[in-house]
Amino acid sequence: MNNSKPKAVITGIAGYVPDYVLTNEELAHMVDTTDEWIMTRIGIRERRILKDPKKGTSDIGAEAVKRLFEKTQTRPEEVDLLVWCGVSADMICPATANIIADKAGVKNAFGFDINAGCSSFLFALITLVPFIETGRCKKIVLVGAEKLSAYVDYTDRATCPLFGDGAAAVLIEPTEDNLGFMDSIARVDGSGRKYLNIKAGGSLMPSTVETIMRRQHYIYQEGQAVFKAAVSNMADTSVELMERNGLAADDIAWLIPHQANLRIISATGNRMGLPKEKVMINIDRYGNTSSATVPLCLWDFESQLKRGDNLIIATFGAGYTWGAIYLKWAYDGIRDLSKGLTGGI
Ligand code: UT7
Repeated sequence: MNNSKPKAVITGIAGYVPDYVLTNEELAHMVDTTDEWIMTRIGIRERRILKDPKKGTSDIGAEAVKRLFEKTQTRPEEVDLLVWCGVSADMICPATANIIADKAGVKNAFGFDINAGCSSFLFALITLVPFIETGRCKKIVLVGAEKLSAYVDYTDRATCPLFGDGAAAVLIEPTEDNLGFMDSIARVDGSGRKYLNIKAGGSLMPSTVETIMRRQHYIYQEGQAVFKAAVSNMADTSVELMERNGLAADDIAWLIPHQANLRIISATGNRMGLPKEKVMINIDRYGNTSSATVPLCLWDFESQLKRGDNLIIATFGAGYTWGAIYLKWAYDGIRDLSKGLTGGI
């Protein structure tokens, strides 16, 4: 027992990905590329796409939240705070958190959006922990959800293989045990904005016929510059976090890296001295889903997690934004209270 302030722990996780599978073979009919190039240079075999033109990020986000409620047997009215994080907001205004709350039946909560590029989930977790530690909130829902296909230029072979759609949500609650969020490092460097951005549609460059003709509403990326910054910053931050918490590679059960490129993931794991068996990887099936990559990994690997496992989350994204979190996982295996699986909490 720990008699100090409560700690914030993740007590449930649920994901949702759209049904449509966009394979490398199909992409090779759309642009000049091959399955071999994409697998070798990025490590993606397929990604999910939300095809229904009437649906947006909030629809897949709300689906993940409803599944989370089912799994954790949480009533929507019990939620104090609901946060959506990501880059593909339904609209400029209002916040996507409001729309997800409405679609998932959350009535007694406040909420807001956090956009930190592909580090959105990491930045949001860091932001939300004090709401639990101070006692301000008892149940927080954080959902990372993206319909990136709305911003991908499917005539640009340099970016269209990279991104996919998907969502995953976590429930964050207090505990008196020495589990949950231990430490974190997060940084921004806005000078990196020129290498990865969506230029038009905001106040700096409002939408015009010209911005549409110049294809400035799509994701723009200078891949090599972003690649170099991602490798060095994700690895440096993770190693710094290990050192200042006295963690050796053997002490870490899992690295959960942002899924942007298999080579970036491998480089980060190698710098931390981790064998590949300790690195969560699902980029081959979903591609880069920005804010959803980390929670989709936790969802996919939930059955293999154990109470007390030391986890490191590491991300890098547009902005630039990057960082790492050290946390101790709170339960054993799959926690699905609707099926009587307590997850050993
Ligand atoms: O999540 C947010 C953070 N984002 C990232 O971390 C992404 C970081 N960047 C990357 O992952 C990589 O830079 C990419 C996967 C985007 C690109 O890989 P690369 O190894 O850096 O390729 P490159 O851009 O240097 O291009 C190498 C060659 C070029 O041809 P030439 O000029 O050498 O003839 C490209 O035109 O590969 C060509 N190329 C392609 N060829 C086949 C670019 N895209 C493709 C493609 N298929 N899809």
